[in-house]
Amino acid sequence: MTRKSGRKSAGGNAERIRSQIGDRTPSLAIILGSGLGSLADELEERVMIPYAELSGWPRVGVAGHGGELAIGALAGRDVVMLKGRAHYYEHGRPDGMRTPIETLLHLGVRTLVLTNAAGSLRPSVGAGSVMLITDHIVWSGMNPLIGDEGDGRFVDLRDAYDPALCEIFRRAAAATKTMLHEGVYMWFSGPSFETPAEIRAARILGADAVGMSTVPEVILARRLGLQVAALSAITNLGAGMAEERLSHAHTQAQAERARHTLSAVLRQAVKELP
Ligand code: HPA
Repeated sequence: MTRKSGRKSAGGNAERIRSQIGDRTPSLAIILGSGLGSLADELEERVMIPYAELSGWPRVGVAGHGGELAIGALAGRDVVMLKGRAHYYEHGRPDGMRTPIETLLHLGVRTLVLTNAAGSLRPSVGAGSVMLITDHIVWSGMNPLIGDEGDGRFVDLRDAYDPALCEIFRRAAAATKTMLHEGVYMWFSGPSFETPAEIRAARILGADAVGMSTVPEVILARRLGLQVAALSAITNLGAGMAEERLSHAHTQAQAERARHTLSAVLRQAVKELP
């Protein structure tokens, strides 16, 4: 399909996963971001598969990213959760999540929900808030499809964040009386946090949140035809917008605050998600 496709290993991985999950047939996958891995604990009768058992899957080295797959039931529905992702800043490859996403496709997944920890650019949307991503801006200048072949690489990213899925999340927020913010996510490469000047630039350019992940996965998933939605757990205000100093430990601790809100919305949404 593509130059760097992990197609073969993706098929083999899917077989391996299938052999461990009995008659479960998950069509929905959720990638858990920094500090959000414990959402996988909510899966009932879950089967855990370390990424190390799957070929072409990232070796996850960032604290707060577990590096394992959890398959089980959430609100009565079969779901695959990915605890941990590859980040561009770990190795300089924007397509580090290609094989995992191809594996999900082989497994029968058609809907991908991505979560992340992010800094907010809106003073009124502070740590502990949850934001539905409705669009993105690439600041890193990178794209996971560079080097792909064929016309399919010219992916149309209008409605990348599926409007119908966004509606489901809005309804889920209303049903659970949860405040769900919405906005544009801007992808910075990391691993250093942004400078205050970059944050001011991001605000001028129309971003509502900044982070170091998710966008390459969205592009890869859209390339493969998956329906995508994404949610940010806000862990801080952008650099220079508040007195606080930023660190990975801070991100993880604050993600915990948003976890409950995220969990409530997700539990409700999975009942309706395709
Ligand atoms: N910037 C980039 N990534 C982040 C941030 C931030 O402020 N907070 C959590 N992840």
